[in-house]
Amino acid sequence: MTTSNRHYHIITFGCQMNKADSERMAGILEDMGFKWSEDPNDADLILYNTCTIRDNAEHKVYSYLGRQAKRKQAEPGLTLIVAGCVAQQEGEALLRRVPELDLVMGPQHANRLQDLLTSVLNGNQVVATESVHIMEDITQPRRDSSVTAWVNIIYGCNERCTYCVVPNVRGVEQSRTPEAIRAEMEELGRQGYKEITLLGQNIDAYGRDLPGTTPEGRNLHNFTDLLYYVHDIPGIERLRFATSHPRYFTERLIKACAELPKVCEHFHIPFQSGDNELLKAMSRGYTHEKYRRIIDTIRRYMPDASISGDAIVGFPGETEAQFENTLKLVEDIGFDLLNTAAYSPRPGTPAALWTNQLSEEVKSDRLQRLNHLVNVKASERSQRYMGRIEDVLVEDQNSKDPTQVMGRTGGNRLTFFTGEINQLKGQIVKVKITEVRAFSLTGEPVEVRQAVPV
Ligand code: SAH
Ligand code: SF4
Ligand code: F3S
Repeated sequence: MTTSNRHYHIITFGCQMNKADSERMAGILEDMGFKWSEDPNDADLILYNTCTIRDNAEHKVYSYLGRQAKRKQAEPGLTLIVAGCVAQQEGEALLRRVPELDLVMGPQHANRLQDLLTSVLNGNQVVATESVHIMEDITQPRRDSSVTAWVNIIYGCNERCTYCVVPNVRGVEQSRTPEAIRAEMEELGRQGYKEITLLGQNIDAYGRDLPGTTPEGRNLHNFTDLLYYVHDIPGIERLRFATSHPRYFTERLIKACAELPKVCEHFHIPFQSGDNELLKAMSRGYTHEKYRRIIDTIRRYMPDASISGDAIVGFPGETEAQFENTLKLVEDIGFDLLNTAAYSPRPGTPAALWTNQLSEEVKSDRLQRLNHLVNVKASERSQRYMGRIEDVLVEDQNSKDPTQVMGRTGGNRLTFFTGEINQLKGQIVKVKITEVRAFSLTGEPVEVRQAVPV
């Protein structure tokens, strides 16, 4: 069957890993001759790249899927694919639930989309969820942005946080080699990208599965060494990374971030709870004192660094006093941004089986109280930008006001200012901040740097 007149549409749920996987899968489809269709109803192939981190994330997928499954009954030529974490978790059960599906593929199979699809186009219904060694991808991803890009450095996760499905669905840690990472980044630099975010579920685990040790027995490959190895790539002006784990976070990494000019002063370090007993029940492997020490050390080296994190409320057995320890940590640290969530029991995780689950009312009440505090603290943190001149890397037009462009400060604050996107896209502009809100800023450009010819 020819694919040259066929159109595809991808709907992505979940985290940055999924977004990066979707861009690679889009690249594979375009390589096969598929063209992007903005409207899913005009597409001959629809791929859902799914997330199962919480119950509501999973349900969203089923409601989307239902609509297209109905469409397929009238248009049997439509190809329906479920990729990502729900696919991995449910496997064949998904086919029983939605028999219209053509392909169910776990996240480790993203780079194999062409082979899997060829089998589908030959008339097979395919399930690919066995754990595999992730092959280096040779196709070009179709990236959403032409300014900022994601580069995976480690897939999977070997931690066993008791609430989390990620290790079940993403498999064991697999680090890419420093050479493969650097080559992808150099290519991005040549293509004109300005900012790269290095990705891993637990980025501090980078390299521990790679062979090679120093004469002192230290693993040759770790994340800090990788930063030194890739920090000087021509064209790339900013480097970011996520996600850090407090259990493995080192002062050496903090020093590297302070020392390397392209590395942004922004740290995303989830803490999950401010209570030591809960941290233990979550199997996180650190105390709130250790977390505070990490933030203190970051601020000693980089007093203006932005700090963000993730937190869960309503973990099984969480008492009011334990929840208040989380509030206290948030109060004391003053996060620039915090992703918060009510605990959601997930299939195949230990905590889901515990009998000390909290009611939805308690969880949602705590979530509201935490969110209120997060807003207050983020507003306070934003005040420091007032009147300052910030370097803003322009990414796009402001979708709500086409006379404005949007970009980010080094500390990752979303910033808007008046300007013409065609002229400014991909430039770092000095912007004087004139308005501050909890999670975004507005300013006026003070100087536009001329694009440097390459
Ligand atoms: N690897 C990262 C985060 C992965 S998942 C880390 O170690 O922190 C992203 C966030 O989702 C987590 O940080 C956690 O706050 C949240 N999360 C994970 N499982 C959850 C669950 N069962 N219920 C509610 N939130 C959850
Ligand atoms: Fe999940 Fe913990 Fe791994 Fe993060 S470190 S992905 S929370 S198991
Ligand atoms: Fe969701 Fe999978 Fe990411 S479960 S958060 S898309 S790793």
